Amino acid sequence: MQVQENISLKKYNTFGIAAKATYFCEINSVEDLAKALQLEEYPDKFILSGGSNMLITKDIDALVLYLNIKGITVIAEEENNVILKVMAGENWHQMVLWTLKRNYGGLENMSLIPGNTGTAPIQNIGAYGVELKDTFISCEAMEITTQHIRTFTKEECQFGYRDSYFKNEGKGKYIITAVTFCLTTNDHIINTSYGAIETQLEKDGITDPTIRDISNAVIAIRKSKLPDPAELGNSGSFFKNPMVTKPEFEKFSASYPEAPYYKVSEEFYKIPAGWLIEQCGYKGKRFGDAGVHKNQALVLVNYANATGSEILNLAHRIIKSVHEKFGIKISPEVNIIG
Ligand code: EPU
Repeated sequence: MQVQENISLKKYNTFGIAAKATYFCEINSVEDLAKALQLEEYPDKFILSGGSNMLITKDIDALVLYLNIKGITVIAEEENNVILKVMAGENWHQMVLWTLKRNYGGLENMSLIPGNTGTAPIQNIGAYGVELKDTFISCEAMEITTQHIRTFTKEECQFGYRDSYFKNEGKGKYIITAVTFCLTTNDHIINTSYGAIETQLEKDGITDPTIRDISNAVIAIRKSKLPDPAELGNSGSFFKNPMVTKPEFEKFSASYPEAPYYKVSEEFYKIPAGWLIEQCGYKGKRFGDAGVHKNQALVLVNYANATGSEILNLAHRIIKSVHEKFGIKISPEVNIIG
């Protein structure tokens, strides 16, 4: 465990923001994490994982602990299930491919989501009709103040839409070190309900899809809509899809009957923020090195050297425009640092 000084974080965040860390330390084991948290000479600590869901708006004047704890273990095999424990630093998509190679089902709809496994529960990642919570059993997390490891059950994680205990009461208190999943080994549940998947499978001429086929379809859809952070800095969906009440939705859809929407329950509806932003004219727009992606208006991009503040200013501008045009408040999904 080695503490380095004055390190650029550009390659550690998928937005590619060139902010600096005053101190930086790579963590390769749970024991090292405990030791690093005890380093009294660095009172301020900042936990960094895959860096795929954050916008850094200024230098981080703290000891940045870069979580890179690896390992995937099969804990138990049952008749139709396998219980898998994945350490926090495993790249999410590589881990999904690992499960598919062994014909373990459940994560295929969430192929190609950037980031690491340890941060997946924080915002209950989801895509194409499936969320992390659907295969989640529990996670282990280190309490920052005591360095004790605590196991959180699914109920204790209080999962919601892009939400969990770790974003609310648990915020800043725990570091997730491992996640345990229950996956299928046969009798897989094939989930094609999300429109774009069926269209993609038809295009590929597939009528009886395997979990591999679903993963390939999702990869194709994501590649066509979402920019690859290795080529164009971004953090996936920058905003959450806003939730509105039924009366609000009825008023909205009377004015915009063509707008797409998802019915969440009898009382709530979700409106795609990407649609709202596109209607405000931002899709594909570029302001210096900060921009709105040309295929998906929900994604903000860094063309090369945008600062975090420039991206944030663009986000504020978009929030204001959407509010003025539709009376709907959208809010960021990514964590704003600084
Ligand atoms: N739309 C537009 N213009 C746009 C973008 C979208 O009109 O520029 C419309 C689409 O035509 C469609 C609707 O909005 O009718 C929904 O779009 P899409 O299917 O692309 O999904 P989304 O609601 O924009 C959500 C997640 C994504 C996830 C996809 C697929 C959120 C905030 N985002 O996007 O998650 O991949 O569904 O399940 O819930 C992420 O969180 O980083 C992410 C990429």
